[in-house]
Amino acid sequence: MFVKKIAILFSSNGSNLEALLKKVHNKIFNGVKIECVLLICNKKDAFGIQRAKKFGLETKIIEHTKFNSREEFDAQLVKEIKAKDVDLVVLAGFMRILTNTFTSQIKAINLHPSILPLFKGSNAIKDSFFSDMQVGGVSVHYVSDELDGGKIIKQRTFERNKNMTLQDWEDEIHKIEHEILPLCVIEILTIDKIYIKDENV
Ligand code: GAR
Repeated sequence: MFVKKIAILFSSNGSNLEALLKKVHNKIFNGVKIECVLLICNKKDAFGIQRAKKFGLETKIIEHTKFNSREEFDAQLVKEIKAKDVDLVVLAGFMRILTNTFTSQIKAINLHPSILPLFKGSNAIKDSFFSDMQVGGVSVHYVSDELDGGKIIKQRTFERNKNMTLQDWEDEIHKIEHEILPLCVIEILTIDKIYIKDENV
């Protein structure tokens, strides 16, 4: 049996972290077992840390505020990730801009709560809700030097209902996120065709 190892990075609530662990951690797909071997959070009080404990997983806290520059913080992330020899890093609500120090060395995917390239940045849910867009959605993409700009892997949309509130919009986004992030991880790590194609990304 093949084992593929993932690391998950998050910053706060961790609902996507929990959905991902529930669907993939220690599960077998297409003869491949996916194992989460590293969790990193940059905020020591993040609720996701408690969620991870339900799966028997401890989270490594690396606070960005303790570093002098983005590059130094990123170098520490890279060191921790390389020590675990992971196949894929998943950013699940990790709210830090990553520099070339990270992106040039680590194969990672990111979850973003909009239909990229629309509404990049940290306010995508509000920005898309208060726009004229009649659809909202979610993207999963490879992490590159450009913020929210790497190659798109998967997207899913939903239609705006007439009486939708910001909360409804956000709920719809999270519902989709909890489905498509695990799907992407499974596809990348277990479907040969896609894995080979993405080797050069
Ligand atoms: C998610 O909506 C995710 O798409 C977003 O943070 C939220 C984390 O929620 N990420 C970004 O905006 C990245 N630019 P969670 O902590 O409940 O998983």
